[in-house]
Amino acid sequence: MAETKKLLRALAGEIQDVPPIWMMRQAGRYLPEYRATRAQAGDFLSLCYNPDLAAEVTLQPIRRYGFDAAILFADILLIPQALGADLWFVTGEGPRLSTITSQSDFDVLKPATDIHETLSPIYETLRILTRELPSETALIGFAGAPWTVATYMIAGKGTPDQAPAHALREGNPALFDALIERITEATIDYLSMQIEAGAETVKIFDSWAGSLKGHAFQKYALEPCRRITAALKEKHPDIPVIGFPREAGEKYVGFAKATGVDCVALDNSVDPEWAAANVQVDGCVQGNLKSSHMVTGGQALIDDTRRIVKAFSKGPHIFNLGHGITPDADPENVQLMIDTVRGG
Ligand code: CP3
Repeated sequence: MAETKKLLRALAGEIQDVPPIWMMRQAGRYLPEYRATRAQAGDFLSLCYNPDLAAEVTLQPIRRYGFDAAILFADILLIPQALGADLWFVTGEGPRLSTITSQSDFDVLKPATDIHETLSPIYETLRILTRELPSETALIGFAGAPWTVATYMIAGKGTPDQAPAHALREGNPALFDALIERITEATIDYLSMQIEAGAETVKIFDSWAGSLKGHAFQKYALEPCRRITAALKEKHPDIPVIGFPREAGEKYVGFAKATGVDCVALDNSVDPEWAAANVQVDGCVQGNLKSSHMVTGGQALIDDTRRIVKAFSKGPHIFNLGHGITPDADPENVQLMIDTVRGG
């Protein structure tokens, strides 16, 4: 049967008059219904591990806006937690984790094969979603890329320049490589289980890829993404993979070919015309409206949205933001973006 879901058609390379659309962090604090369900769950992590409520918040933006895809509600930091790290969220500040800076910290981590007991509620969320989603809506699974996940595990929190992770990478490469290896193995297992539970495509978020330069980018952004993609393709050859090496700049060029991903997600630091000529030539791209338009709205939102749709109109394209929508966004601006993409 011919594929009917717009997102999966774009990932298969089809050029569409109106691109499919979804939004990073589409289930989130800018929506009053999300804030209500999170309050019902108690806190963010309890929401992630409650399959009924996690499925509910995944569905909220689909009901409100009719996006072409739903993204599983979870977090990239559940993998460190499943490997045995402590994880908690400080309101208004972000995630906190126990740190990995020595061999003895690393030695307490569990083997990659032991993550599923902790993560089984996530697979249940996906199973619920396969039943509840409208038939035209694709279901996206995801994980963090090993480098990005490692930056949080090493520093114990988000850092502006990822300095603690770079310091370990340079100061104790054997330990750093072992950590990347453990996360890579766990990620392959985790994404395979997500696919078996119903994910129709998976996205690998490398939010901090841009801070890896030269050979380090090859070794720690490109190579883990290539390995994860190859392992998934071996088991699930028909499942497309989306890579997001955020802020990769010039290194977006050739990324799809080098890693085997079916689609490259672009942040908003690259011009759409440049990306169409240099990245989309190799296949589907996703992006790349700047998230701040969801706060400010108006004619600038309309103009930039039209520019992106036009720039990518000659190849396969998935319309998205260049990064996640922020809590201060106005839900009406999201509707304006969608109307502009769909209505011209
Ligand atoms: O709607 C979706 O996109 C699906 C769910 C999703 C979340 N996080 C939910 C979330 C996804 C795909 C992520 C990915 C994620 N998580 C990334 C990669 C993408 C990116 O943004 O660069 C990263 C780096 C994380 C780690 C993380 N989680 C941080 C740094 C924070 C704190 C910042 C913040 O926005 O509060 C989170 C929390 C988080 N993850 C929230 C949500 C909805 C907010 C939690 C809340 O409700 O208070």
